[in-house]
Amino acid sequence: MSSGVEGDVAKMELGDEQLVTPWNVVANSNTGIDYDKLIVQFGSQKIGTELIDRFEKLTGRKAHHFIRRGIFFSHREFEKILDRYEQKKPFYLYTGRGPSSDALHVGHLIPFIFTKWLQEVFNVPLVIQLTDDEKFLWKDLTVEKTLAMAKENIKDIIACGFDPDKTFIFSDFQFLGQCPEFYRNVARIQRQVTFNQVKGIFGFGGSDCIGKIAFPAIQAAPALSNSFPFIFGEQKDVACLIPCGIDQDPFFRMTRDVAPKLGHPKPCLLHSVFFPALQGIQTKMSASDPNSSIFLTDTDKQIKSKVNKYAFSGGGATVEEHKEKGGNCDVDVSFQYLRFFLEDDDALEKIRKDYTSGELLTGYLKKDLIELLQKMVKTHQTARATVTDEVIAKFTSPRSLKF
Ligand code: TYM
Repeated sequence: MSSGVEGDVAKMELGDEQLVTPWNVVANSNTGIDYDKLIVQFGSQKIGTELIDRFEKLTGRKAHHFIRRGIFFSHREFEKILDRYEQKKPFYLYTGRGPSSDALHVGHLIPFIFTKWLQEVFNVPLVIQLTDDEKFLWKDLTVEKTLAMAKENIKDIIACGFDPDKTFIFSDFQFLGQCPEFYRNVARIQRQVTFNQVKGIFGFGGSDCIGKIAFPAIQAAPALSNSFPFIFGEQKDVACLIPCGIDQDPFFRMTRDVAPKLGHPKPCLLHSVFFPALQGIQTKMSASDPNSSIFLTDTDKQIKSKVNKYAFSGGGATVEEHKEKGGNCDVDVSFQYLRFFLEDDDALEKIRKDYTSGELLTGYLKKDLIELLQKMVKTHQTARATVTDEVIAKFTSPRSLKF
């Protein structure tokens, strides 16, 4: 079965420098994805200092290091969410995961860590969609397998620490049959979008199965508040803020076009850059390639061996060369990972300086990263072990949320 993505990749070989779709991320340049170009290409806005200052002033909170370091770098009308916050008007958060593997990798944590923080700061409800149907349609997996993966992924998501009184988590295969209001919105969205439009947005082709062509409406529907009558009743005007990797933006460009036609506000977005694959910043960490990823199920030994073996080094070829010319933090995967996960700004800056000058060798940088990842993954595994079936039932039962 061919996919629209293949069509996109073929187009890319004809000269594009980068390709970012929900199913594929590739950069032809050694310096990785050009995010400034992507902002222009996608038509989003850069998160600038003015917006950050306003956020800090309104919430009384220092911006998360993901914002301060440009990891969440782009947005669509985030200022409208801040207006609502200021005016005490309701809004909610929406994010998701496509269960294509039993275990999440550390890159998947980026939107979830950030969403948890936003939930704390704004004190608003959150819905999390698991698109098991998407993975069934796109991958060589059975319905039963994607459902089982969704359940495993839900445990990892809960382990990120979301508030059970303010969070509803659902899998499409489970939930769509339970909630007629959700399906009605899916159909309303489907009637507003033509095949030519999804062809343009997602690159679908004539030999793609019809499930793929109809799917974007299912990822769009959670951005309409009355898809969740048990949380929002019939209210259509509760605004939605979606934190996600920028690869998911095409779904929400489509949603933003449709929402006003159906009498809803356009969803607002916060986009992150990609957590790179171990092999280099040209592509994102992906669950489909186990050697490119550190999984949340990895042992200390696996983490150590993967980082030592695969993490692309921006250091010199020999110790002498490294000491003379220094390392390149922009392409060094270990440094880039620390940029995501080492919260201490001063410690990170010291590593950057010492590595750039050549004083710090790649081996020591990797050692720091291995220790940090081992600790982080272990903390996650401990939290995950407390997620019982009862806890899952609490998060996944359709119910009213406190807000
Ligand atoms: P999925 O499972 O591909 O990814 C889940 C979330 O993780 C982000 N992500 C990454 N972020 C940074 N670095 C990476 N290497 C990386 N890999 C994945 C994705 O951008 C996403 O935010 N179709 C979606 C599921 C979904 C969804 C949503 C996502 C349904 N509704 C609403 C975001 C918002 C998917 O397959 O995600």
